[in-house]
Amino acid sequence: MILFILNNELIETDQPEGMVLIDFIRSRQRLTGTKIGCREGDCGACTVLEGTLNNGTVEYQSILSCLTPLGNVQGKHIVTIEGIEQENLSPVQQAMSDRAATQCGFCTPGFIMALTAHSLKKENSDTQKTIASVSGNICRCTGYKSIELAAEDINQNLKGKDLNNTTHWLVKHGFVPDYFLTIPEKLEQIKTQETRKPGIAVGGGTDLFVQKADALYYADLHLTRDRSEMKQITFSGNRCFVGASVTASRLMENDQLINYFPDLKQYFKLISSEPVRNMGTLAGNIVNASPIADLVALFLALDSTVHLKKEKKEREIPLREFYKGYKQTALLQNERIEKVSFELPTVYSVFNFEKVSKRTHLDIASVNTALHLTVKKGTITKATLAAGGVFPYPFYAQQTNSFLAGKPVSSETVREAAQVLMNEIAPISDIRGSKEYKSLLLRQLFFAHFVKLFPDTIHFSELIHQTASS
Ligand SMILES: Cc1cc2nc3c(=O)[nH]c(=O)nc-3n(C[C@H](O)[C@H](O)[C@H](O)COP(=O)(O)OP(=O)(O)OC[C@H]3O[C@@H](n4cnc5c(N)ncnc54)[C@H](O)[C@@H]3O)c2cc1C
Ligand code: FES
Ligand code: FES
Repeated sequence: MILFILNNELIETDQPEGMVLIDFIRSRQRLTGTKIGCREGDCGACTVLEGTLNNGTVEYQSILSCLTPLGNVQGKHIVTIEGIEQENLSPVQQAMSDRAATQCGFCTPGFIMALTAHSLKKENSDTQKTIASVSGNICRCTGYKSIELAAEDINQNLKGKDLNNTTHWLVKHGFVPDYFLTIPEKLEQIKTQETRKPGIAVGGGTDLFVQKADALYYADLHLTRDRSEMKQITFSGNRCFVGASVTASRLMENDQLINYFPDLKQYFKLISSEPVRNMGTLAGNIVNASPIADLVALFLALDSTVHLKKEKKEREIPLREFYKGYKQTALLQNERIEKVSFELPTVYSVFNFEKVSKRTHLDIASVNTALHLTVKKGTITKATLAAGGVFPYPFYAQQTNSFLAGKPVSSETVREAAQVLMNEIAPISDIRGSKEYKSLLLRQLFFAHFVKLFPDTIHFSELIHQTASS
């Protein structure tokens, strides 16, 4: 039995864990306000709120109901567009109406739920954050300017939000109905034991349910996303341990990690969209083994270790040894990733991530790359460069890394290292670009790492001109 609260109603259902939430909402509950656009996580028409009980309060975020297995909403509060209905329009709905930000209306419930999720966050709003909250929503007819204007109005209406008593404040100002105040107590009552059944491991489902939702409908699933020990980010000695089910959103919001990687949020803004980041987990990104996986590039450049477990047997393996071929990994049958760890940067470390895709947001990379250097007195003592889109699997640039170690930070070093790099990659031509284009792109992004990290020493024009003339 799966127990959760849908809007203001307790649901107890024996539908399969692998049924996607959108089908349960629309076909079983006949709540048809939530729309189906693509069923692939791209359009945001199916966006709903997911509320999770945490220390007596409920934290809300936007998720995509087309990729969420029903099993993942156990013990949660799920809110559809019908669940925010009140006598008057909410400030979010009013802003969309005032600014003519809706035409055919098909995308509108998704936009409204994404903007309501933004409103419910226990943090101060600004216009950029409000607009970013709809990074996973596509509208085919209105034009985004009017939606941006609506976002500005919503942001104005959120001024003075009480961060200590957010839900009360939002109820008082008409953003959500007053039954939201009763949800923490109701969720407390349906708290359930974590179960660990054998089956196909499922994190957020953002890869699996795009690839084979039908096959997963009746399959035995091993749901890992809400396993408490897999959701932690901890620090011990000089290492950071990231639980397998930590989502991209949790990574980019972690204050301690931001201290070590000040540009972390900027990197993650290039990765998928807000609802996909709310769902997709680190282990899912690693095991899916896409050659252009973004989290993998970041964690490869950190020379991470993968901690694996099969029944009671545990082992560790460097992430750079995890991939064996296209979509082939070192994972044994029924083995799970428990966590991933890496050595924390020191005062001598610098780190950078670059990604180019056809669209800036909500798109997978043509090429991505991350670079981690340890530099002492102007000399590179350790280099770990990773790249995606240039090899059959996420690429750890062994030869370039060895070449860079012991070299001074200079334009000459970077140009020579770029040659080594070009010789060790093996891109193929595909829909995301020709192999020549991808090689060139990686070379430019490799240069970009150094120009960004050492603006006083290394200049782009020097790298380009001298490379062109040599
Ligand atoms: C619209 C959209 C945009 C996207 N954009 C990007 C992007 O920009 N960059 C990017 O890198 N990715 C992107 N993705 C891909 C996806 O979101 C990520 O790869 C995500 O991290 C997958 O995590 P998940 O938990 O959803 O994986 P799932 O789909 O749940 O699982 C993926 C694989 O991992 C396995 N698995 C899950 N957890 C474990 C575990 N603990 N141990 C062993 N195996 C496990 C599953 O069995 C499955 O084989 C996008 C996806 C969508 C739908
Ligand atoms: S239906 Fe398009 S994202 Fe879910
Ligand atoms: S209003 Fe028609 S798709 Fe957005």
